Amino acid sequence: MAKEKTGKEIFDTYIAPSLKEARKRMTKDTNNFLFEIDDRYIDMGIKIRDRKLTYMVKTYGCQGNLADSEKICGIMDALKYTEVDKEEKADVIFFNTCAIRENAENRIYGELGRLKNLKKRNRDLLIALCGCMPQEEVTIKRINESFPQVDIVFGTHNIHKIPELLYKAYKSNNNVFEVMSIEGDIVEGMPQKRISDIKAWVDIMYGCDEFCTYCIVPYTRGKERSRRPEAIINEVKELVEKGYKEITLLGQNVNAYGKDFVDIKYSFANLLEDLAKTNIPRIRYTTSHPRDLDKDTMDVMGKYENIMPHLHLPVQSGSDKILKKMNRKYTKEIYLEKINYLKKQVPGLALTTDIIVGFPYEDEDDYNETLDLVRKADFEGAYTFIYSPRAGTPAATYEQIDEDVSKARLLKLNELINEGFAKGNKRFENSVVEVLVDGFSDKNPEMLCGYTKHNKLVNFEGDVSLIGKFVNVYIDKAYTWHLHGTLKSDALQK
Ligand code: SAH
Ligand code: SF4
Ligand code: F3S
Repeated sequence: MAKEKTGKEIFDTYIAPSLKEARKRMTKDTNNFLFEIDDRYIDMGIKIRDRKLTYMVKTYGCQGNLADSEKICGIMDALKYTEVDKEEKADVIFFNTCAIRENAENRIYGELGRLKNLKKRNRDLLIALCGCMPQEEVTIKRINESFPQVDIVFGTHNIHKIPELLYKAYKSNNNVFEVMSIEGDIVEGMPQKRISDIKAWVDIMYGCDEFCTYCIVPYTRGKERSRRPEAIINEVKELVEKGYKEITLLGQNVNAYGKDFVDIKYSFANLLEDLAKTNIPRIRYTTSHPRDLDKDTMDVMGKYENIMPHLHLPVQSGSDKILKKMNRKYTKEIYLEKINYLKKQVPGLALTTDIIVGFPYEDEDDYNETLDLVRKADFEGAYTFIYSPRAGTPAATYEQIDEDVSKARLLKLNELINEGFAKGNKRFENSVVEVLVDGFSDKNPEMLCGYTKHNKLVNFEGDVSLIGKFVNVYIDKAYTWHLHGTLKSDALQK
């Protein structure tokens, strides 16, 4: 029998992530395989440490990471670990990280530093770093040099290998690093412990092939690869049977769904329509790319009541010059044309977006083009960012602009965005809206909260029994960030 490798050996043979390798895209078909757990990994706590063990997952970044964390929890439960909500109680802590901007990463390094003391108190504690950060060469170097307290490092391509990685960490008493710069496979059947029993994330595709010049995601998540339609439709049908009320379809660029199939012709519009027919009460999706958002998709959105009248369509900039330097492959005019068409198909559509300011070469004229676009598009919300150079991406080598200029641009842009937010809420004042009740409000635990079809947050008084149900609420006051209302009806049938 082959001798079990020690952690050091694993470390020595491990292939470091390479942004250059990660950039490669081949036309080969994606491998699909089914997740399985070997029996020897189940109940490792009892088998190896003579006691039940616990775990905690800390999630940063986008919905893609939230969905991945549900899978990490699903796998840990299957291994018979118990989830806990405090670091002090945990025997394994996962940091499911985000690499999108420098400040996101600095936060994680801060947290990892803090955990050194916890390790002194619990000798069994394993710290696992996963998600997008380990896919960067710079992260691995820094962890290696300055964070010996990190025991396990894996990337976005090997969540399914958690059982094996944990086992190796226990057996070797050494660090276990495994990060792959591969294009990526699709692993079906991983157990998923969903955060909510009302709303569910549904991955429809992984990776990104857009290579916007500022963005690290195509390097950290591999090539665009779509899940098979049957797998997605069956997952949604099961969710309907379990009583789920809302799904959000996830992908970095959902409009590219299906473009990688070699044996069938099946697009995002086809998928959206087939899912609308499952009668799940509410469908949302994120994120869309303005270039790939096509007429078929917009037509399907207008045709089905259960596809929500809200779209998050990141524009990034209103200047054609900057859009070109970002490699976004559309112009301000094309963006406006598309949203105008969509607003005709979906009257009352709520549109939100992402915008980056301070991108290299952005001058006052470019910035004013962005402000102009914001006014014309009538956004009802936006995530706004100052450009953050990411090592290995093309834009990191461009001449950077002054940080104070970027900060001032962000402030002024946010004022305009907040006006749009408030205006978008105001249009519902003195009307009745349908709300899917999420639970009690974090800010005011006396009040229930939930979202409207247009994705507006509503607070109102009501009974605990309404959680998970649809209700009609009369909106008596609109604020910038939420609506305040009065319950009009008991739970609606749906
Ligand atoms: N796939 C999605 C989301 C990507 S990340 C999309 O294409 O929109 C979410 C947002 O982060 C992006 O839309 C962009 O606005 C922002 N972002 C990405 N890289 C960034 C960087 N290097 N600096 C600042 N903001 C960035
Ligand atoms: Fe990044 Fe662009 Fe892909 Fe979005 S579409 S993940 S911004 S490269
Ligand atoms: Fe961050 Fe990775 Fe998502 S970089 S935004 S967690 S895809």
